[in-house]
Amino acid sequence: MINAPKGTKDVLPAQSYKWQYIEDCARETARLFGLKETRTPVFEHTELFLRGVGETTDVVNKEMYTFEDKGGRSVTLKPEGTAGVVRSFIENGMSSLPMPVKTFYITPAFRYERPQAGRLREFHQFGIEVFGAKSADADAEVIFAASTFLKKSGIKNVRLELNSIGCPDCRAEYNKKLKDFLRPRLDGMCSDCRSRFDKNPLRILDCKEEGCKKITAGAPKIVDCLCDDCRAHFARVQSLLSVRGEKFEVNPNIVRGLDYYTRTVFEFVSDEIGAQGTVCGGGRYDGLVESLGGAPTPAIGFAAGLERLLLLMENTGVTFPEEQKPVIYIAGLDEKCRAVAFDIALSLRANGVPCEVDLMERSVKAQFKYADKLGAQFVAAIGGNELETGFVDIKNMSDGTSERVNLSGICEYCKKAGAGV
Ligand code: HAM
Repeated sequence: MINAPKGTKDVLPAQSYKWQYIEDCARETARLFGLKETRTPVFEHTELFLRGVGETTDVVNKEMYTFEDKGGRSVTLKPEGTAGVVRSFIENGMSSLPMPVKTFYITPAFRYERPQAGRLREFHQFGIEVFGAKSADADAEVIFAASTFLKKSGIKNVRLELNSIGCPDCRAEYNKKLKDFLRPRLDGMCSDCRSRFDKNPLRILDCKEEGCKKITAGAPKIVDCLCDDCRAHFARVQSLLSVRGEKFEVNPNIVRGLDYYTRTVFEFVSDEIGAQGTVCGGGRYDGLVESLGGAPTPAIGFAAGLERLLLLMENTGVTFPEEQKPVIYIAGLDEKCRAVAFDIALSLRANGVPCEVDLMERSVKAQFKYADKLGAQFVAAIGGNELETGFVDIKNMSDGTSERVNLSGICEYCKKAGAGV
C-alpha cells in the first residue's frame, strides 16, 4: 500500500463541508473588504523565494521543496503566498492600476518542517495583500479583515499581538543595540541563535528555546528605538484599533519568520491548539515590490493557516453549518422502475433539487435504509402500481407521514416542502 507523504492530509468527503465553510468565510470576508482573487502557480523559480522571503530565514534555509525540473531550472513549491502575488503584481504591470490594489488568495503552501499538531508539510493559507497604501489606515483595515475572517469562522479566544519592527533606518540602529546587548551573552544561546547573530539578529527574539528566551527578555525593545515616522505610524495603527474596540497587546518579540517585513507586524494567537498557536500572521512589507524589480510600492497583508483554524474550530466546539443532504431519494422496484426513477432524478436535479437514486440494484427496503443513512428528507418509491396510476407516495423521513403526489409533480412538491432545495 502507498501512504500519503508525511506531513500531508487528505480532506475526506465526509469532512470537506468544513473546509468549504472556512473557504466561504474567507470569500465572504474578501467580498466585504473589496479584495479580488489572485491565483498564482504552485511552483515558482527558486530565486523568487531566495530574494523574496530572504536567504537567512528558516523557510528558505531549511524548509523549501526545491528541485530541478527536466529543463534544468531550479523551481520551488511555494512555501507561502506573498512572494508569488508580488511577482504577479510586478509582471502584470499592476502598479499602473488605480491604488490600492487589494487581492486575496486561498492556496496550498509547502514547507519541509517536522510535522506536529497544526504543522504540516502541505498546508493551506487564506491570505490578503494590499498594494500601494502606506497609511496606517491600510494596516488597520488589513488587521480588521483578519479579525473579521476569524470571527466569521466562529472562533473565540484568539488574541491579537502587535509590534513594529521599524524601517531599514531605525532597524539598523536597533540591530546595533541588540547585538551590543547579546554579544556578551552569546555563549548561553542555542546554535541557531549564534548563527543568527551576524546574519539576522532580530530573529533571535523569536527563538523558542527557554535559555534564549530568558536572555532576550532583558534585551532592548525595538518599539523603544523607532524613528519618528515609524513611531507615529505605529501609534496611529494602535489608535485606529483601540477606538474601534479591537483588543491587542504590543508584543515586542514578534518579529515574524520572513525577511520582508517593515513597520507593523501582527499575529493572532490561540492557546488552545498546542505549540503551533499562531493562526494568522502578517505585516507591512514596504520594500519587497521594489526589491523584486517593481516600482517602489508600499504593501501589507496577512495569511491565516486553514489547518490551524480548523483545529481550533474543532477543539473549541464551533458548529459547522450542516452539509447538503439529498432532499429526496427516488427508489425503484426493478430495472424498469429504476429507469423511471433515474429520469425523475435527472429532471429534479435540472430544477435544482438535490436527489439520489439507486445505483446498487438494492431491494426497495434496502434503498429506504440507505436513503435514511444519507439523511434524505423524503423518499418516493416507484413500483408497478405507481407506473400504472401515475401517482406516488412521498414519505417524509422525519415524521413518517406521506402524501400522494402526481409523478410529474414531485419536483414542485419538493420545492414547496424541501428546506434543502
Ligand atoms: P507565516 O507566518 O509564515 O506568514 O504563515 C502564515 C500562517 O500560515 C501561520 O500563522 C500559520 O497559521 C500557517 N502556517 C505556516 N506554516 C505552517 C505549517 N507548516 N503548517 C500549518 N500551517 C502553517 C506568511 O506566510 C506570510 N506570507 C503572511 C503574509 C501575507 N504577510 C504579509 N502578507
